[in-house]
Amino acid sequence: MCGIVGYIGPKEKKEILLDGLQELEYRGYDSAGIAVIEGKKLSNFKAIGKLKNLREKTKSYKSEGFGISIGHTRWATHGKPTELNAHPHLGAYSYVVHNGIIENYQNLKEELQKDGVTFLSQTDTETIVHLFEKFNNAMNDPFPAFQKTIEKLEGAYATLLITEAAPDTIFFAKNGSPMLIGFDGEEVYFASSDTPIIGKANEVYYLEDGEYGFVKEGKVTLFNEEGEKNFTKQALTADKISAQKDGYRFFMEKEIYEQSHVMTDTMMGRVLDDSIHFEELDKDFFDDIYAITICACGTSYHSALASSYLFQRLGKMRCDVEIASEFRYKEPFLTRKTLFITISQSGETADTLEALKMAKTAGMKTLSICNVDNSSIVRESDVAILTRAGIEKGVASTKAFATQSMVLWMLSLYLGQVRETVSEEILKREIDAMIHTPKALIVDEKLHAKLTRLSKRYLHGHGFFFIGRDIFFPLALEGALKLKEISYLHAEGYPAGEMKHGPIALADSELFTVALMPKTMHYDKIKSNVEELSARDATILAISPEPFELADDFIKTQYDSHPMLEFFEMMVVTQLLALEISVRLGNDVDMPRNLAKSVTVE
Ligand code: M6R
Repeated sequence: MCGIVGYIGPKEKKEILLDGLQELEYRGYDSAGIAVIEGKKLSNFKAIGKLKNLREKTKSYKSEGFGISIGHTRWATHGKPTELNAHPHLGAYSYVVHNGIIENYQNLKEELQKDGVTFLSQTDTETIVHLFEKFNNAMNDPFPAFQKTIEKLEGAYATLLITEAAPDTIFFAKNGSPMLIGFDGEEVYFASSDTPIIGKANEVYYLEDGEYGFVKEGKVTLFNEEGEKNFTKQALTADKISAQKDGYRFFMEKEIYEQSHVMTDTMMGRVLDDSIHFEELDKDFFDDIYAITICACGTSYHSALASSYLFQRLGKMRCDVEIASEFRYKEPFLTRKTLFITISQSGETADTLEALKMAKTAGMKTLSICNVDNSSIVRESDVAILTRAGIEKGVASTKAFATQSMVLWMLSLYLGQVRETVSEEILKREIDAMIHTPKALIVDEKLHAKLTRLSKRYLHGHGFFFIGRDIFFPLALEGALKLKEISYLHAEGYPAGEMKHGPIALADSELFTVALMPKTMHYDKIKSNVEELSARDATILAISPEPFELADDFIKTQYDSHPMLEFFEMMVVTQLLALEISVRLGNDVDMPRNLAKSVTVE
């Protein structure tokens, strides 16, 4: 989380920093700040909340002449979202911005406090600037002082430091959190991802973990643990594909409506008349692979969980799914005959990225399914399949989930095809359903209007249970996650058959049950589970192609020929329901409280 930008050069710096931060606001919007040094002139501005507050605060400020500058948009980890905790953090004569977590900051802070340093913030970041000044005061040499500072840090960081002691230099370091350097002649940019520098820089270097250095007079000097290092820049695309709301009220709404056509892109060249093809995969990709482990977080974890049913059913291969943050510390048994798949919209999720690195260290074959090309996860994987969903701006993921689910469905069928575990008849049936998927994702305006009307009945109560069976259980988890993220109401996803083992104790008229009742999958079983809840007075919102007389509210779906078509159609219903409840509650749909689009801390 958190977004970092930096610029060194003659141009007006405030606008460069603010424009860059605007592109990174999805990474956190608790506060933002900038710091500029031009000769002897130091300027620093911070504001809590969204970037527009910082814009307002810096309205009358303009930088002039050559200078160095850094900026930051924050997702709070240590300390509340206050102005004092906002970056850049100031020492006596230096500023620092940081993304990540300094795990040993308490020890460092205590040592510095013993030396008489006063801390103004509650952040881990502030230790960096004081540590640097401590070393620089002793050495009177900023780069060795920075180098010594970096050596002391444990944890994940991408950091930029500027100091009056070297007013023509930006110091940088990266370990575990993303950062890149953009070049345009003598001018140099820094950013957490490439969008802030597209159109400004023409070449880029993606920093690797453990790299640090400084930039001065247009030249970057780079080090890693082995010493000074040469590096090769690569060309940076000139086209910024920026997302607009196109008349929709929210990005999330637009992204729900977009799902139908992005799905066509996801399938293009991959779903052929009578087979599945991935140009990313060599013919022998699955040779010597006997099991699959998938690792992901949040929504991406839910698409993984749904696919585990498909890999076993179609590919006849064992498939385990792990939450990345749990996987990392369970001392997993990793074998080279297991394919390790990571799923991520952003490609920057710290837990997923670290799990991937573990798998690589263990010598496993790695494949990522990701929406962002050139992201850390894509670059780290042996092979990447892009989901082609286009930019997803809403913090609550929608079209990324849809396209991930499609890629995973295609991949499980591909596996069945190469391992010859699916008959021609099944292959044909699956492909036929895939081709119909974009249709199942078209948002019916009448359905949307009905959900808008219904939403007013679901603003109170003591919680929601989304229930489903088989692949509809992960969909229930996803429906509940969507609702809680943007409505701040308590919601849980549960396997329908598991309710009687405990959660049914909560049932009363104030317990809302959203029942996913597909016609093509265990309909009678789930019907019994819902009847049990209804008998205990739970309020039932049933989603099904089949009318259900015990439903308090009923959403009729159209598709009843293939489970995945029902899956996608029901997915849209749960997304719209969450959206409309959130709108009625007056919440910020696209930037819900406490969240960030890209989670780059553990
Ligand atoms: O970028 P990723 O897919 O790796 O992100 C994983 C989760 O942080 C993400 O899915 C999160 O749960 C979303 N806010 C869900 O809407």
